[in-house]
Formats: sequence, structure tokens, C-alpha cells
Amino acid sequence: MPEEVKIRKFEVKDRAAVRQIAYDTALMGKPAGLFFQGQETISDAFSLYFTDYEPGSCFVAEINDSIVGYLSGAKKKVAAEAIFNGRIALPLLLKALKSGIFLSIKNIRFIFSCLIDLFKNGVHTPDFKQTYPATFHLNIKDGFRGQKIGARLIHAYLDYLKIEKIPGVHLATMSEQAANFFLSLGFQQLYKGKRSYFRHILHRDVPLYIFGKRL
Ligand SMILES: CC(C)(COP(=O)(O)OP(=O)(O)OC[C@H]1O[C@@H](n2cnc3c(N)ncnc32)[C@H](O)[C@@H]1OP(=O)(O)O)[C@@H](O)C(=O)NCCC(=O)NCCS
Repeated sequence: MPEEVKIRKFEVKDRAAVRQIAYDTALMGKPAGLFFQGQETISDAFSLYFTDYEPGSCFVAEINDSIVGYLSGAKKKVAAEAIFNGRIALPLLLKALKSGIFLSIKNIRFIFSCLIDLFKNGVHTPDFKQTYPATFHLNIKDGFRGQKIGARLIHAYLDYLKIEKIPGVHLATMSEQAANFFLSLGFQQLYKGKRSYFRHILHRDVPLYIFGKRL
């Protein structure tokens, strides 16, 4: 008999599982360890705002009491960024400095790649926060993809945003596969650029897509 997938709201007890999946899927579905050494830093950077400051906008997929995927959302990206920049970024940087992770060759290479990308591509991407105020991250554990779990998490989130009267949602992704997934769910491509952060590992630039959906 197929195992039953339960889609439900995030609870505090799911925090460690969400942080682990965030780390395990950070490089377009592959583990962050391929480009960065420091699991705590990556999990903090990718999930701390969502789990600790806006848990009510997060959803998880559970099979047999085990979390196999999550969607971490923010109803208003403007407010999320203000909290990240004002309350999370500096303590996170100090914690990371203290842990010594910036002495790692892997991390120095990644930071160097980011600086080259900044020089080549600049920081500017179009801003869609007015028309599409909400945003989210979505990741399904390897081994559980292609079973409609991602689609079910998105539908739960979109229903929630509609109840909250949020008029639109947008997200960024560097994954070609995820791009096809979002198109299949009725999202529109709003922007396509490229980034070279991972050139030292992948030996190519990656696309940067922004997708949006009006609600
Ligand atoms: C991208 C991801 C979230 C999709 O979730 P999923 O549970 O694997 O996808 P689903 O099974 O719900 O697919 C839903 C629909 O999208 C389509 N789809 C999924 N992956 C696709 C792909 N690679 N190419 C084309 N269509 C795809 C499915 O065919 C399905 O359409 P259908 O209903 O017409 O059959 C998941 O694979 C994942 O976490 N990948 C790694 C991390 C990542 O890239 N996250 C996104 C960053 S924001």
C-alpha cells in the first residue's frame, strides 16, 4: 500500500528536520556541503527567518511521522527582509566568524566566486515585491520527488495566502527542473538572468529565474 503523505502546518517540533532538508537541498536539490562547509550557517541563512519569525506561513509534508519536504513562506517579503537585515544577518555573521568557518578553503573559494559574480553580473535583479508581495522556499528530500508532494505544498500555501488576502507571490530559483515545475503549476516567468556563484564547482553559469503568480 502506498505510504500516506500528510500536508500540514509547520510546528516547532519540525524545526530540526526543516533545517536538515534546507541544508541537504541547498545546491539546486543537492547538499550545501558541495560548496560550503558549515551546516549551522547554511541552515540559519536559509531557514531561520521562516521557522523562528514567521512559522505560521510554513508547511511540511510528513510520511510516517517523518518530514520529507517543506515550504517556508513569507507573506510580505519586504517585512521578512527587514527582519533578516536588522535582526538576523549580523548575529549570524558573528556566529559564523567565531566558528572559524571562513578559514575553510572551500568557503574562501565560494566567497571568491560570489565576488566575481558580483563584479560580472552586479547585484541588481528586478523587484517584484509590490505586485507579488509574498515569497517562499520549497524543498523535497531526495527520494521523495516527483510524487506531487511539491504541488500539494504549493496548493496549501496558495490557499493560505488567499485567505490572508495577499494578492501575489513570487520566488527565485536557479534550478532548470524547478523552473519547469513552477510553469506546470501556472506560475509565470517574470525574469531570467544568470549567476556564476557555482562556476568553480559546476564549470558553468547557472540561470536565475524569478517566477510569479497573481492570486
Ligand atoms: C522542484 C520540486 C520542489 C518539485 O516538487 P515535486 O514534489 O518533486 O514535484 P511534483 O511531483 O509535485 O510535480 C508537480 C508537477 O510538476 C511537474 N514537474 C515536476 N518536476 C518537473 C521537471 N523536472 N520538469 C517538468 N515538470 C516537472 C510534474 O510533472 C507535475 O506535473 P503534472 O501534475 O502535470 O504531472 C522538488 O523536486 C525539489 O525539491 N527539488 C529539489 C530542490 C529544488 O529545486 N527546489 C526548488 C527551489 S525553489
